[in-house]
Amino acid sequence: MSAPLLTEPPTGLDDLSVFPASTARLPHGHLSIGGVPLADLADRFGTPVYVLDEDEVRSRCRTYRAAFPEAHVLYAAKAFLSRAMARWIDEEGLGLDVCSVGELELAHAAGFPPERMVLHGNAKTPRDIETALRLGVGRIVIDSPSEVARIAALTGTAGRQKVMVRVVPGVSAGGHEKIRTGTDGQKFGLSLTDGSAQHAIARVLGQPQLELTGLHCHIGSQITDAKPYLVAVRRMVGLMARVKDSHGVTFSELDMGGGHGVAYRPGEAALDLTALARRLGAELATGCAAAGLPLPRLAIEPGRAIAAPAGVALYRVLSVKHTGPNMFVAVDGGMSDNPRPALYGACLLYTS
Ligand SMILES: Cc1ncc(COP(=O)(O)O)c(C=O)c1O
Repeated sequence: MSAPLLTEPPTGLDDLSVFPASTARLPHGHLSIGGVPLADLADRFGTPVYVLDEDEVRSRCRTYRAAFPEAHVLYAAKAFLSRAMARWIDEEGLGLDVCSVGELELAHAAGFPPERMVLHGNAKTPRDIETALRLGVGRIVIDSPSEVARIAALTGTAGRQKVMVRVVPGVSAGGHEKIRTGTDGQKFGLSLTDGSAQHAIARVLGQPQLELTGLHCHIGSQITDAKPYLVAVRRMVGLMARVKDSHGVTFSELDMGGGHGVAYRPGEAALDLTALARRLGAELATGCAAAGLPLPRLAIEPGRAIAAPAGVALYRVLSVKHTGPNMFVAVDGGMSDNPRPALYGACLLYTS
């Protein structure tokens, strides 16, 4: 049990803008989502419990597909995954980014087509790779040099696996230092700056069992401005041009990852998807034309921007106390169901 630090006064009933759109006020200060009283859900399922509004998830998927009609939109399962979620994402026509055998098998058991999945991970176990190959995932994203030969060997001489290389483009972006993954010095991807990415690309191209369809980068999470993505696209196009010069190879895809920021508190900014789509598309088209490259199909991997605004986590408050300048609200949950407050100080509390 833990007691999240309440950094701001509890949100009152007056502003529900960060809750799912179907959230409604009930008498006595209670709330319902999708017409279901939250107190009933707490009684029925116990707490803590995650509550997700299917309509909101689906409508967010549709918003993405409308904003990025030409792109491949993959939901990043790490934001939240269950069988129902996998089914909704499938029915809405999105792909799925998975990063463990657990996510992969869960989605597969829910009937998600493996060819629309992408396997990520900076520490893929042999079982992760074997399962991905056996089920036939669409892409495996290579995150370290040692994976190149390992994936090629497990693919075997009879097969050919589509892969991408995750590049660290040297762009710092994201809502907190701990979720900025676009610069060197963190554990994901291969550096553009020190040549590791170029080296890995050359090794992949030397493996007949691997088909390198394109490059990937994920610069961070909770990004609310399009600019860092534009800088990252420019650097990725520069790398694609160098690969063309060195190897005579061009790519059909460019995956710019996720990281699209959402509002956690009323009044906070969220990333403007329409503006992002327009500016990203224009930057990519201009850059490729200038470098004499064919236009790759864009892929994006939003996670929290689909799941977070569609759900809430319900807790029972066990005690409230004041210590010095702080008020502590102890609830019947903690790190395992809501790590963000402890990891980087995020907290939005609604009490009724
Ligand atoms: C490779 C990759 N893609 C997509 C995401 C999704 O990020 P977000 O939930 O911030 O959109 C992550 C998050 O860590 C990631 O590592």
